[in-house]
Parts: sequence; C-alpha cells; structure tokens
Amino acid sequence: MKESEDRYPFLRACRRQATEYTPIWLMRQAGRYMKEYRALRKKYSFLEMCKNPELAAQVTLQPIDKFKLDAAIIFSDILIPLEPMGVEFEFAKREGPVFHHPLRERKDIEKLRIIEPEEDVSFLMKAIQIVRKELEGKIPLIGFCGAPFTLASYIIEGGHSKNYVLTKSMMYQDRPTWDALMEKISEVLIRYLNAQIRAGVQAVQVFDSWVGCLSPRDYEEHALPFSKKVMDGVDKNVPLIHFATSSSTLLELMKQAGGDVIGVDWRVDIREAWTRLGYDVAIQGNLDPVILFSSVDLIQKEVKAILNLVKGRPGHIFNLGHGILQNTPVDHVAALVEAVHQYSSR
Ligand code: CP3
Repeated sequence: MKESEDRYPFLRACRRQATEYTPIWLMRQAGRYMKEYRALRKKYSFLEMCKNPELAAQVTLQPIDKFKLDAAIIFSDILIPLEPMGVEFEFAKREGPVFHHPLRERKDIEKLRIIEPEEDVSFLMKAIQIVRKELEGKIPLIGFCGAPFTLASYIIEGGHSKNYVLTKSMMYQDRPTWDALMEKISEVLIRYLNAQIRAGVQAVQVFDSWVGCLSPRDYEEHALPFSKKVMDGVDKNVPLIHFATSSSTLLELMKQAGGDVIGVDWRVDIREAWTRLGYDVAIQGNLDPVILFSSVDLIQKEVKAILNLVKGRPGHIFNLGHGILQNTPVDHVAALVEAVHQYSSR
C-alpha cells in the first residue's frame, strides 16, 4: 500500500491494520432508495446512466454527499462487461436483467469475445477518473466485477434463476462447454478489474452473489478454480474483497479462492465466520438489510450486537449482508452510519 493510502480507515481495515473506528460502506449504496437517484432515473435508463461517465460519476457521489461513508463504489453493474463479449441483455421493468439469446452450446461460447476494457468499456474508466478527481482524496473508490459463476448463471439462464437448472445441467453434463465458458469469463474479468485499477480504483470487490446454490464439492470443482484464477490475476497492490451470499457452507473454500477480505451475509454469525476463516483475512458484513426498515433503536441495537461479536479486532469493515433494498428509509441509513462510527470509536 502506498504511504498516502495508509490514512484511509477503509483501506487500513482491508489490510487488517488498526483504525480509530470501524469503517462502513454499503453494497448498492447508490440506487433507487435515494430520491436524487430516482430523479435522474426519470430521465435516463439504468444502462444509459452506467454508460455515461458524467452521470455514473454523479450517481456514485450521491450517497457520499449524504452519508459519512468510508468508501465509494463506482456506479456500474456486474453485467456491463458481457455486452462487449457479445452477450446482449436489457433491464426489463420489474424483471431485472433479461438475456434474449442465452448461451447454452459450445458454438455460442466459442464466439464470445475477450474484451479490451480501455476501448470496450471506456465509459467506466472515464467515470472512475472523474470520481477520483471529485473525491479529492477524501475517501477511497472501490471497483468491482461479478464472479465467473454468477455471470455464467445469467448468461446461461437468461436472467435471474431460482434453481439454476440450466447452469448446473451444463456444469454436470457438459464439462468442456462449462469450462470453456468459465475460462473465457475469467480472462475477461482479469482484464476488466486490472483496467479499473489502472483507471484509479483503490480496492476491488468480486460479487459471487448466487454461488451459494452450489454444494461445497461442486463449488470446489466447478467454480473455485475460476474465481481463484481471476483473483490471482488481479494487481495485488490494491486489496480485494471476495463476497458471496448464502455462502456459510463455503467460507473456507472462498478463502482458498482468494481475497484480502471475505464478505459475508447475515445468515452466518460474524464471530463464527471469522473464526472459521482465520484471522489472516479481513471480514466485511453483516447486517441484514431488512433491519434498516425497522427503527433507529433497533438499528443501533443490531450495530452494537455485531460490533460486540467482533470486539474491535482490526480488519472488520461494516456493511450490509447484501445490497441495500429499494424503499429503505434514508434517515435510517444515516443512523446506521452514525451508529457504526459512534459505537466503534476507539
Ligand atoms: O453498489 C453500488 O452502489 C454500485 C452499483 C451496483 C449496481 N449493481 C447498481 C444497480 C453494483 C455493485 C451492482 C452489482 C450487481 N448487479 C449484482 C451483485 C450484487 C448483488 O446484489 O448481489 C448483481 C447480481 C447485479 C445484477 C443486477 N443489476 C440485477 C439483478 C438488477 C435488477 C434488480 C434490481 O435491484 O433492480 C440490477 C439493476 C441495478 N444495478 C440497479 C442498480 C442501482 C437498479 C436499476 C434501476 O435503477 O432500475
């Protein structure tokens, strides 16, 4: 870590160094729960906002202007690198992402392009540069990507899935095609994250949102090698956060795959998770996002409970266990950030 970066509590915690208080940021901290975001969304589609560097930068900074967050995350989406690979999708109203031509055969996979991020997603690099300038060294900026399994599941299923029947069928029944797809995605993600780092992000997070549907054996055999390849291929000068949900059965294997920080959801006790992971990695989490719909009292109580389990051990980054939900009360987000800083102050 460069000496100048040493002063940010978030980056220090990623490296398990002592901090004056527990740093906090929130997954999906820019989004529809904020009126400033909804106002822009009236004029632009989600993808238009992602692809316009000035707008993406503006949205990235909306929660930073409002809350005392310890990190910003660039406004984008895990699906963004798929389009230049040759996989088209759209965000349908209320349905989330929809892929009209899901890929299920070897010949489709062969056609996928390995992207040149600086050219193919130059808008993202530009947005990162604008945000870095605007932040003027106030807090660090996080870049991100989806993990190979989670992205493969969208490409194969054609959208969100409940049981991942098509994804797992390819994995179980057509291993050469599965391996070829995962290999291509991994190669793209290494380039994609390293390009974001060159553009200026100071940490990266890999979102393996849906990998919790796999048994530990299947994770180890069919997902871990590719996640590991991506994380091994990323510039080690910036810390990497490896996040998954419903992953309490996979924690030890996730650590094996890589990451300076392991992100955990609320379904696992954070003390137990950290004991199992070992104290040679940092941990991120793990408030249930639904707690934010309750009351300031209850939010404060839950914050205290998590902080008490962690006992001030260096290397804890406070976060929700998954992304912030639509309709979350904004004043409760402010109360959460305040509570984490106040109760963890050392
Ligand atoms: O954290 C941040 O603030 C950065 C922005 C960010 C978005 N998506 C913005 C977004 C990040 C880090 C993501 C990651 C992402 N995208 C994940 C992994 C995290 C997770 O939640 O598990 C996944 C699975 C996606 C794919 C995706 N994008 C889905 C399933 C959806 C639709 C569901 C929904 O919440 O509407 C999106 C759309 C999306 N990505 C929105 C935002 C702000 C909402 C778009 C809108 O304005 O309509």
